Amino acid sequence: MSPIAVVTGTTHGIGRVTAIELARAGYTVAMLCRNVEAGAALQVHIAALVPHACVRVIHCDLASLRSVRVCAQTLRAQFDRIALLINNAGMVSARRRMSVDGFELTFATNHLGPFLLSRLLSDRMAARARIINVASRAHLRGKLDLERVRDARARYSGIEAYASSKLANVLFTFALARRLAGRDITANCLHPGVVATHLLPAWLRLVKPLISRVMFDVERGARTTLYLALAEQVGTISGCYFDEHQRVQAASPLANDVELQESLWRASERWTSAGS
Ligand SMILES: NC(=O)c1ccc[n+]([C@@H]2O[C@H](COP(=O)([O-])OP(=O)(O)OC[C@H]3O[C@@H](n4cnc5c(N)ncnc54)[C@H](OP(=O)(O)O)[C@@H]3O)[C@@H](O)[C@H]2O)c1
Repeated sequence: MSPIAVVTGTTHGIGRVTAIELARAGYTVAMLCRNVEAGAALQVHIAALVPHACVRVIHCDLASLRSVRVCAQTLRAQFDRIALLINNAGMVSARRRMSVDGFELTFATNHLGPFLLSRLLSDRMAARARIINVASRAHLRGKLDLERVRDARARYSGIEAYASSKLANVLFTFALARRLAGRDITANCLHPGVVATHLLPAWLRLVKPLISRVMFDVERGARTTLYLALAEQVGTISGCYFDEHQRVQAASPLANDVELQESLWRASERWTSAGS
């Protein structure tokens, strides 16, 4: 069997291009989608584009810890060894919403779900496997208040919640890389650029032709993810944050705070452990 790539959030945007290109590169791609009909449509599209492509659609709503557990069980039943785990899916919400498990929805989707998925697949990663977390430059303005993510009545700003969740992606990547050292598995994160996807407000996408030099199309937006997934020269690099030009960059001082990395890890473990 060809090497296995697990990619979240492939129904739109950067994840969609990532899945197509990994299928083209010869990977068996497990596409984790909350909308399996859209996933199945992409599966058909990939089959038409790439002869002999091997693509599977697996339901996963990252905002639900139960759904992530069921998905991980399915993956474990289907695949012995995973070569690539790409935590790509992400969202932002204009108003405060809570997940079914009682966490602020952006944090639940962008951090807690991927944290649990990565943890549940950790012993299934192949030798020289790569874990890639799609973070964002928005993490630079992120702060993390672990009390507030469970408080349904706390003050809320969509941009702040998104920036915090992306800071959590970088903190998680660095803590994970530390734990994986010596296991021949790497963990890196990235900023894909400002990319014209559904994540951006509609008005910003509308003015894309005017700002095309700074706003990437999805193909360009997937470039750093694909570089981290496929390039020989990054196969042994771990614990780094890459920019949209595939260069290692300094993450924010908060992201480099080992104590904060470890408190997020401990809290995430506690919050995701029930019933697993
Ligand atoms: N676009 C940018 O400028 C930009 C900049 C920096 C970082 N990023 C990061 O890049 C990643 C990809 O975003 P994008 O720009 O490609 O956005 P997008 O076009 O909106 O795609 C997001 C993907 O995530 C999926 N998703 C959302 N919530 C989910 C959930 N609860 N469970 C499972 N899947 C879920 C979506 O599925 P549905 O089809 O079901 O909605 C979709 O497939 C995100 O992590 C984002 O934070 C993007």
